[in-house]
Amino acid sequence: MDSVAAMSLDDANWTAYEAGARAAIDAALSDAELDAARVAWLGRKSELVQALRGVRDRESGMLLNGVRGRLETAVAERETALQQLLWEAAADSGVDVTIPGLPVERGRLHLLTQIRREIEDVFLGMGYEVWDGNEVATVWENFDALTSDPGHPSRSINDTFYIDSDTVLRTHTSPDQIRAMLARTPPLYMVSPGRCYRRDTPDATHSPIFLQVECLAVDRGITLADLQGTVLQFFRALFGEDREVRMRTSFFPFTEPSVEFDVTCFICSGRGCATCKRSGWIEMGGAGWVDPDVFRNVDLDPDEWQGFAFGFGIERIAMLRHGLPDLRAFWENDLRVLGQF
Ligand code: DAH
Repeated sequence: MDSVAAMSLDDANWTAYEAGARAAIDAALSDAELDAARVAWLGRKSELVQALRGVRDRESGMLLNGVRGRLETAVAERETALQQLLWEAAADSGVDVTIPGLPVERGRLHLLTQIRREIEDVFLGMGYEVWDGNEVATVWENFDALTSDPGHPSRSINDTFYIDSDTVLRTHTSPDQIRAMLARTPPLYMVSPGRCYRRDTPDATHSPIFLQVECLAVDRGITLADLQGTVLQFFRALFGEDREVRMRTSFFPFTEPSVEFDVTCFICSGRGCATCKRSGWIEMGGAGWVDPDVFRNVDLDPDEWQGFAFGFGIERIAMLRHGLPDLRAFWENDLRVLGQF
């Protein structure tokens, strides 16, 4: 203590002390090292603080307080510098800790899935059951039972994916009509949405894999007006409450009569635009009155049972409703397109 007290009056010694302390502070490479230097040179047991306690005269007090004040500043500065070094080290490691975190995006249902579910909801609301059909069908289910012509080109291996000579990837959802009538006793009201397969080269309006929704109602005493009312309800739910529908005669092997449904254009409300080719009407797809031969093929008596059916393309519904010009967009998984819905 004596020697410290003696030193405390010696300017040169305190200059050396300050330099030693400063060197130790500046050499600290971590908060822990800095704290150790602070304790050693500025702490309660340090020579400096001990000397300050023994000070009796103003001059020594000012000298030692000056040293303490400058060293405290040095510690604070070193603390800031160490902080800076930490940021730089983090940046050098390739991690920029100043960048805000990335938002975690929520997934969403694909537009086609949304529309498929909307359709299911409409029909569930009308008391239909939703059928989950098989994508693999027998040739009999896909063609013969639906009374398609044995020589029809749609049966050829150029149009249809054959698994073997009796089995195909269904080319439409209509084989689900056959399965449903074999599995259930009428009255039967069912819709069956799902994938279909055809050997088509992909372009803006064709895809070898596409979605259809099949509808089949079998009951006693139902009429074409029931078909029209059902389709009207369906289109109003999807395209807006003020839509109208119309039927045009058509041909399908499994319906007699066969019709094609049109809906009033929801872009121009019937005034005429590019989407409806200036006609005010948009073609939606095929439907009809179940052919008596189809009933006979599934052992139902056509004198007892009547029914209607339709099959519409789901991609077409989505493209029309959302103004999408190219159906390949559905499969390309470009989130800039699909993320809009
Ligand atoms: N299966 C037909 C197709 O893929 C669409 C179709 C037309 C389904 C008339 C039906 C129907 O149920 O009655 O082109």
